[in-house]
Amino acid sequence: MRSSELPFVQSMFDHIAPHYDLLNRILSLRQDVMWRRKLVSALDLPPDGRLLDVACGTCDVGIEAVRTLGSEIRVTGVDFSRRMLAQARRKIAQAGLSEQIQLIAGDAFDLPVAAEGFDALSIAFGIRNLQDRVAALVSFRRRLKPGGVLTVLELTTPPPGILHRLYLLYFRRLLPRIGGVFSQNRAAYTYLPDSVLKFPRPLEFARMMRRAGYARVTWLPLSMGIATLFKGRTPVRL
Ligand SMILES: C[S@@+](CC[C@H](N)C(=O)[O-])C[C@H]1O[C@@H](n2cnc3c(N)ncnc32)[C@H](O)[C@@H]1O
Repeated sequence: MRSSELPFVQSMFDHIAPHYDLLNRILSLRQDVMWRRKLVSALDLPPDGRLLDVACGTCDVGIEAVRTLGSEIRVTGVDFSRRMLAQARRKIAQAGLSEQIQLIAGDAFDLPVAAEGFDALSIAFGIRNLQDRVAALVSFRRRLKPGGVLTVLELTTPPPGILHRLYLLYFRRLLPRIGGVFSQNRAAYTYLPDSVLKFPRPLEFARMMRRAGYARVTWLPLSMGIATLFKGRTPVRL
């Protein structure tokens, strides 16, 4: 199982799960909510479409998808952190969406779902944690129907300039402190900027998507490049 490349990632998310949503809102100044909305609006799901949300965490994407796209859609969320899934289960029950959203404990490299079973696949702030990204993207492609949509939302580094410098200051100095105080896990919020700074530039990640077999690959910088929404489609069979 390739998740063993980063054995601490699973226990890190288990540890921060109870504080994860609150910290997301604080550290991104609620931008994360708007970014997920953009992702959902890019899914192009039919009214009764099926969405696979990989690395679903506390299920913000799935809940947003059902609320926006209607109760006929069905979402399967997969994550390997049982405590993130426990938070997700609680939120889904509170929102009354247990019929629409199913959760499965599993690894992104070995997804326990049927091949070609989904109209769209999303991964929000998750691909950064996977080392062999092309292999992961290929495995995602196999779960999508022909013509299916892949959307990847990820934190990225803004282009050089003043914002870039301010961002680095915030990301390297302030964020680990705030995250550490709230979650009591400074390592997790030191890992976060490290992993974002190592994430490839949008053009390079778009190339990886093409290498993994996606067509019509596009990307949209959000909040001046602090996050990027990537989109591609699986080829249609003629
Ligand atoms: C930053 S959180 C993102 C959660 C959610 N998608 C969101 O929008 O907030 C990353 C999630 O990826 C999960 N994750 C990381 N590597 C994984 C893997 N190999 N397989 C399954 N889940 C993984 C973690 O457990 C965590 O819940």
